[in-house]
Amino acid sequence: MQDNAAISTTREMLLKRFETLDDKSAILKASELRELFMAIREQPEDQRREFGGAVNELKLELEKLVAEQVEKTEALPPIDVTAPQDVNAAAPALLPTQNGTVHPLMRELESVLDIFYRMGFTAVESREIDDEFHMFTALNFPAGHPARDEYDTFMTRQTDKNGEPLVAPAHTSIMQNRILSERKSDLESGKPIAAVIPGRVFRNEDLDARHEHTFYQFEGIYVDRGIHAGNLLATFKTFLSEYYQQDIEIKSQPFYFPFTEPSFELALSCPFCQKKGCHICSNTGWIELLGMGMIHPNVLKMAGIDPEVYTGFAWGCGLDRLVMMKYGIEDVRHFESAKLDFLRQFS
Ligand code: DAH
Repeated sequence: MQDNAAISTTREMLLKRFETLDDKSAILKASELRELFMAIREQPEDQRREFGGAVNELKLELEKLVAEQVEKTEALPPIDVTAPQDVNAAAPALLPTQNGTVHPLMRELESVLDIFYRMGFTAVESREIDDEFHMFTALNFPAGHPARDEYDTFMTRQTDKNGEPLVAPAHTSIMQNRILSERKSDLESGKPIAAVIPGRVFRNEDLDARHEHTFYQFEGIYVDRGIHAGNLLATFKTFLSEYYQQDIEIKSQPFYFPFTEPSFELALSCPFCQKKGCHICSNTGWIELLGMGMIHPNVLKMAGIDPEVYTGFAWGCGLDRLVMMKYGIEDVRHFESAKLDFLRQFS
């Protein structure tokens, strides 16, 4: 009797574990199950048969569960992509959602946003189609200026009301004019504008381990009276130290962006090797990460904010690179590759 109780406790335990397994068939190899089989021999003669039967029943139950699961997930009908389209065909079965996990970039983005929430920023999502005005003009890129070409921007055949092609945003800076215009009344009532703007961006790049045509950025903007570059550097250093959970050093050097003046490029001490030198920082101990600067007076003016009264800073940071440095990921293309063995390492 006592041993039958052992079977039912093991059964409970194995059923629970089954729910959490990625590879469901592993349950059939559980050591507890093997132990039950071994215990058959040790039963008193008169109970051995009954005990053995119960253990076998448990095994059959588990095998059935595994078979059902395999049928649900793996036995999807193959799709013949060359076949003529059959409009009446049933849609292919979808993978059950319990097999999915949050994408590593989205999980990291949550922790990035959380840090900025704690610093008083609010998040606004960027968008995936836009116009030439928000991509360039509102950001102080003069019409026809060669700086526009550097953004390798995908354009659509469809045009906006000015006859300009619509664009797939090449940076999250497209949101600056919108947020500044919408929130300028906050400034008048004494509140700063503090926003972090995550979004997916697109560039017509030659692909390699460091370049993808589709990647993620998060923009930051902060405007108030008396804001200066020291506030920008301190904010970003605090963010980096919090994100990497270690004291991060930063170095800034002058750069050029039409929408900031002065503009900087920021490098950080390698969070992967703590400046000792590794493959992530090409043995230099430092990594150039992002562009930032003080928002150009023309950008503030175009949003109806008086640059004589208010100043502000902005940055645009690549999320993919930030995450690659945290985990030592060597190729940015993994993120969009849909390779389960890559993605599962983060689940
Ligand atoms: N938009 C720039 C890019 O993608 C990055 C950037 C630089 C954004 C400076 C900013 C900034 O807001 O101030 O290359």
